[in-house]
Amino acid sequence: MERETRRREFLRQGALAAGAVACGAYLPYRTAGATATDSQIEILLDEPLGMISPNIYGHFIEHLGGVIYDGVWVGENSRVPNVRGIRKRLIEELQKIKAPVLRYPGGCFADSYDWRDGIGPAEKRPRRTNFWADADTKNAPSAHKYEPNQFGTNEFNQFCRLVGCQPYLAANLRSLPPEEFARWVEYCNAPAGSTTLAEMRAAAGFPEPFGVRFWGVGNESWGCGGNFTAAEYAVEFRRYTTWVPKYGQELSFVASGPNSDEWEWTRGFFEELLRKDKEQLDAVYGLSLHHYAWNLGRGKTSDWEQAKGNALQFAPVDWYELLHEGQRIETLIEHHWQIMGEWDAEHRVRLIVDEWGPWYRGGAEATPGDLFEQTPTLRDAVFSAMNLDIFNRHPEKVAIANCAQLINCLNSLYLAHEDQFCVTPVGHVFAMYAAHQAGQGLRMVISAPAVRYDRDGKPATFWGLQGSASLRGKDVVLTVVNPHVSEPRETRIALRGGRVSAATLTTLTSTDIQAHNSFAQPAVLEPQTRKLDASGAELVVVLPAASVNKLTLALG
Ligand code: AHR
Repeated sequence: MERETRRREFLRQGALAAGAVACGAYLPYRTAGATATDSQIEILLDEPLGMISPNIYGHFIEHLGGVIYDGVWVGENSRVPNVRGIRKRLIEELQKIKAPVLRYPGGCFADSYDWRDGIGPAEKRPRRTNFWADADTKNAPSAHKYEPNQFGTNEFNQFCRLVGCQPYLAANLRSLPPEEFARWVEYCNAPAGSTTLAEMRAAAGFPEPFGVRFWGVGNESWGCGGNFTAAEYAVEFRRYTTWVPKYGQELSFVASGPNSDEWEWTRGFFEELLRKDKEQLDAVYGLSLHHYAWNLGRGKTSDWEQAKGNALQFAPVDWYELLHEGQRIETLIEHHWQIMGEWDAEHRVRLIVDEWGPWYRGGAEATPGDLFEQTPTLRDAVFSAMNLDIFNRHPEKVAIANCAQLINCLNSLYLAHEDQFCVTPVGHVFAMYAAHQAGQGLRMVISAPAVRYDRDGKPATFWGLQGSASLRGKDVVLTVVNPHVSEPRETRIALRGGRVSAATLTTLTSTDIQAHNSFAQPAVLEPQTRKLDASGAELVVVLPAASVNKLTLALG
């Protein structure tokens, strides 16, 4: 628990301050039975797990570093192609990956933000000290430290409309009263012409309501969101969510949930919430869960600064260590779910994993001065695919997930600076995995030799293959990660209850585990797709070392 204490401490302080591998040439597939395989994946068509919510493929943007200013917002007069001030290329990329939901304005920033600062004529909006100002580096642009409020509620909802995704707003519970929460809902959702706030929205060019359904009630309320105890927060949650005006719009409130394995937060929240009466459960759509994989200290240190790793330069052991830290999220989902069941036997409340990803130490910024910006490598692609597969395998538990954060930050899908832009390997994974959205999750049985590696002179292991499968119409989509840094896996794919008439395989991999895209070289890592000449109930594919794979199997 010491490491989590350090992270909490970091956030508290923030609140106060505001191995290269040769996979060789490989044959992507062969007919079953030609040679022995070492791994097997069975897809059980008759064992559905539930619908994979598209919202599991959600994103997150915060007024932090270069996320909003430079990443999303370039301004209407910019030479960077834009749509009403919003970076055009970003809109196009998000359309391509079918981005379903976008969380905003934080993160820790949310609990310092007065939404009224970000509405009205742009030239009249105030400049405020950003929550992250003291964490920012000396060379950070002024707009990162002193919030210019040029991007606010109108621009955010405009962005969501252009992308075609749902807005998810995080309300300020630490420093604004509940009345202001209700007013923000009113500004967003009150019918055209109904109230003064609806008229202010119309004056900005938005007569029709934004129709915001998802509302976070505070963020990380155990830390930067107010340093509450779980019980104190539950009292606040009841107060903030009582009698919020609906205007015919379904409202789904997300309670600020635990950090990683803080089981006591989950327990304490529900215990206090329901102390009043059982009906209080009706106010909770979801409980958020945050988990960052940051501790690469291999047991030598759990210090929040010391234990973090280098984003770009790392050894195979760091690769596996990161994956281990990320894999923990499956246990976190299962265990918090179990605790939630003690209070909510019918499991009406779902988990909302609204911040996830790796967090490295600074130094790998594509744009020096951008706080928390990392340049994702193949390792982060494998990590992200692993996470998405985990969410897919728990469709009844996870309703929304938001990768932290979309652009110019931690585990970003895109990097941008002025007119430069590149899709990171993480962005490519989201594009590959979009095919699972709204599919019927299917149970799979995987057997593969475990990865064995040396961890400071001691033997360590990691699973050999993992993935997820879903059915969409007549297509089975199977995604599989091979985490081994040097060994390809020849894998028999068996479809139980159906036959394959056609198949394609898309693979993201490299012979360099540190491979990454950059402004200068934006296409170092790109997925490759090929058709397989497959028919019948089985096929054998070779999954290269250090790879993310998607098989699309047409049933027929
Ligand atoms: O994503 C960066 C920060 O990490 C968020 O602001 C906060 O919620 C979390 O601790």
